Amino acid sequence: MAANYFVAHELSADPFALLRQFACRGGPSQSEYPLFDAWVEKTSDRVRAGALAASDVHRFWRSLGEPYLSGSLAGRTLTKPFGYPGDFALLDDLYRGTISERAELVQWDRYLQGQAAPRAVRNRLPYFAARVDEADRRSASAEVLVLGCGPGRDIASYLESRPASRVRFLAVDRDPRALTHAATLCRGRAGAIEFAKIDVLGYVPSKAFDLIWAAGLFDYFSDRLFARLLRKYFACLRPGGELVIGNFSTANPSRAYMELVGDWELLYRSSQTLAEIARRAGCGSFHIGSEVEGINLFLHVERP
Ligand SMILES: C[S@@+](CC[C@H](N)C(=O)[O-])C[C@H]1O[C@@H](n2cnc3c(N)ncnc32)[C@H](O)[C@@H]1O
Repeated sequence: MAANYFVAHELSADPFALLRQFACRGGPSQSEYPLFDAWVEKTSDRVRAGALAASDVHRFWRSLGEPYLSGSLAGRTLTKPFGYPGDFALLDDLYRGTISERAELVQWDRYLQGQAAPRAVRNRLPYFAARVDEADRRSASAEVLVLGCGPGRDIASYLESRPASRVRFLAVDRDPRALTHAATLCRGRAGAIEFAKIDVLGYVPSKAFDLIWAAGLFDYFSDRLFARLLRKYFACLRPGGELVIGNFSTANPSRAYMELVGDWELLYRSSQTLAEIARRAGCGSFHIGSEVEGINLFLHVERP
């Protein structure tokens, strides 16, 4: 309440006054998180009401210059150094909970890593491992296709924790830099994985899989494209196989922060929308799950 009052008061004079104070100290301290949270909420309201343009907010962050823009997680989210949102380097830093070693960036990074969305990203790892384990139980020689593998942290941590696993992976991404990064992470188990530079939109696999996994990918696709790809990849499952597609939920509490601070827009979907898409795509047997935060939803489609 007090934080809300303070921020509302500040916003009426200068929408960025609070952020300027934070910037002098390398970001908000933990005791200032409620103030920053309230700033995000109020500013998001103002943008929705048309009282402030999101581009002006982004311009403010850009005005902080270096090292914020290329060194902090939030700055990299905004500047997109690889040309697209959610690049492999940023994602891998979210998985690893990386905090900058530079004193002037530490507090910005700590705040970001504590948000619900990065926690949900980290929760993909056990969720992925459980699905691969299940595929491994179903098949003596399980084959897994990972669409838009990004940093490959999910595969690397799976293989690291299961040194005797016989599961084989095909990891595809359209960014060759992501594939190089993923191959480096997985080099200890190079025999278990094949990497391929592939655009999932036009790709037609030449074989079928026990598990097809896509996280952080369909959040960028329209409902129509989602349904088209769902149909296509469903047809690439072996009997008894499973297709799992992650999508951030409409309940993501970090949404306003991601949009205002990082200009990171996703197509958020509810369980109902995912179910509707699955029905429209003609999938008979499916269910919706989520990681423990309930923020990253997963559509599971099973092939009988
Ligand atoms: C947000 S990252 C998610 C990475 C990974 N799946 C994870 O959960 O950690 C999305 C990845 O999908 C890749 N990607 C986006 N569109 C693609 C497409 N049409 N074909 C192949 N890869 C794509 C990007 O290059 C990026 O590496």
